[in-house]
Amino acid sequence: MVALQAIAAALLISSSLATYIGTASQRRGTVAYYDPTNGGGSMFDNANDGYGEPLNVIISGLSSPEVLNEDGIINFARAIGFSIECLGIHLGAPMSANLGDGNGWVNQTIELREDYGSAAAGTCLETLIGGNHFRVFVQNGTEADSGALFLAVSREEDVIEDHTIVPNGYDIGRDDFSAAAMGTTSYNGVTYNTVAENITGLMPAGSTGVNHGIAVDGIVTLLTVTIE
Ligand SMILES: *[C@@H]1O[C@H](CO)[C@@H](O)[C@H](O)[C@H]1NC(C)=O
Ligand SMILES: *[C@@H]1O[C@H](CO)[C@@H](O)[C@H](O)[C@H]1NC(C)=O
Ligand SMILES: *[C@@H]1O[C@H](CO)[C@@H](O)[C@H](O)[C@H]1NC(C)=O
Repeated sequence: MVALQAIAAALLISSSLATYIGTASQRRGTVAYYDPTNGGGSMFDNANDGYGEPLNVIISGLSSPEVLNEDGIINFARAIGFSIECLGIHLGAPMSANLGDGNGWVNQTIELREDYGSAAAGTCLETLIGGNHFRVFVQNGTEADSGALFLAVSREEDVIEDHTIVPNGYDIGRDDFSAAAMGTTSYNGVTYNTVAENITGLMPAGSTGVNHGIAVDGIVTLLTVTIE
């Protein structure tokens, strides 16, 4: 009996210790995202021409932590029909974003393009004929460490048109991306369950400061991606 009580007490101590360590080291996983403008950031990235692309999709910080890093988002992107850029061919300079997390302006982590169905060749095809693509920025600075991924999603013209964005290409890109992501998807043995929610009031609507003068409707889609 005494021994059992001792074991029970030990379990209680170790579980509360685990809880304490968990909360102390994990501000991530407790909030969907922080508004970048509160920390001097912006919901538009810097396209290096004085304008920016809208960060129109957020992968929530409440998603499974395995999704919220470079390998994780690549696998998820593949589950919904994207690949890493065609054989490393990168058309266009990286863009940077300031997510108000204390990291200042940081270059995109990675850029992914829609896969037209045949692995690397599919992405090469996209590079030539245009399609959906997105850039990823991580909100993980110490001042706003949500762990959320901010995505600049757009639909492009083909390479002959020099990778410009189709008219209304930001809103269309966001909606196509979200539609592909929602529900149950899987890749490489990982199954995802994704729920979408639209946020208004976080990003201004209109074309002021937007790359190519393309107006946006101001909606940001928040995706919570849970690994089953
Ligand atoms: C982003 O990458 C470009 C090209 O590699 C580099 O010139 C630029 O300084 C980088 N910007 C930031 C904010 O790190
Ligand atoms: C923040 O994310 C970037 C991009 O994935 C990564 O290189 C960096 O190590 C991360 N920082 C922290 C503190 O997790
Ligand atoms: C978000 O808004 C867009 C544009 O109105 C719409 O097409 C989409 O279905 C909405 N998504 C959700 C999850 O409400």
